[in-house]
Amino acid sequence: MRIDIVTIFPEFFDVLDISLLGKARQSGLIELGVHDLRDYTHDRHRTVDDTPYGGGAGMVMKPQPWGEALDAILGHDPDAHADADGPLLIFPSPAGERFTQSIARDLADERHLVFGCGRYEGIDQRVFDHYGARGRVRLVSLGDYVLNGGEVAVMAMIEALGRLIPGVVGNPESLVQESHEDGLLEYPSYTKPAEWRSLEVPPILLSGNHGAIATWRREQQLERTRRVRPDLLVGESSETPH
Ligand code: ADE
Repeated sequence: MRIDIVTIFPEFFDVLDISLLGKARQSGLIELGVHDLRDYTHDRHRTVDDTPYGGGAGMVMKPQPWGEALDAILGHDPDAHADADGPLLIFPSPAGERFTQSIARDLADERHLVFGCGRYEGIDQRVFDHYGARGRVRLVSLGDYVLNGGEVAVMAMIEALGRLIPGVVGNPESLVQESHEDGLLEYPSYTKPAEWRSLEVPPILLSGNHGAIATWRREQQLERTRRVRPDLLVGESSETPH
């Protein structure tokens, strides 16, 4: 998969050199390009923002540097990303659809993702309109809170989708048994020693009875989800979530 990121803080993404995603890059599973939006400005101050039309607080990112940066990445043909498996543009925004494990799965299937990191009060709406008319554009929010910019959200999304690309996580089994994969929160995990600070591992996990362990884990998932995230169970037929 090819991933391009446009940002005014390219060094923010240096951490993508390390850990699982760093390895995925070394092995060629993920190819990454990080682009400085200011390289597409033409004034001495490398200006990327201006005051909002209509007034109001804060600054808005100008469409011109965004247009030049995205054209350079997508190729100069403005319709280059129009086909269904062409590049997908993603702009993190608190005004976007909520990022979920299901969206992470969709993104992991793409061939080319282009992330645009907004700052300040956001990006001029015409950037979304222009590229939305020529190809696929998604505005995606990490959650119902406001970050200073899209960089942290892009890091989170890349981490979530990157580990779903086949070959990135060594043992694919571990992807199945985690929170949100089956619509529930994950069950609690324990390792050695069997007793720590007078706290014991639930005896069932030491029983060797795999059927009973599977049942116990499922109950734990349901109990935890009901207690912490009942919203995930809405519309489920109570005992048999998907
Ligand atoms: N940029 C600012 N806030 C954000 C959020 N909640 N999600 C994604 N991008 C953002």
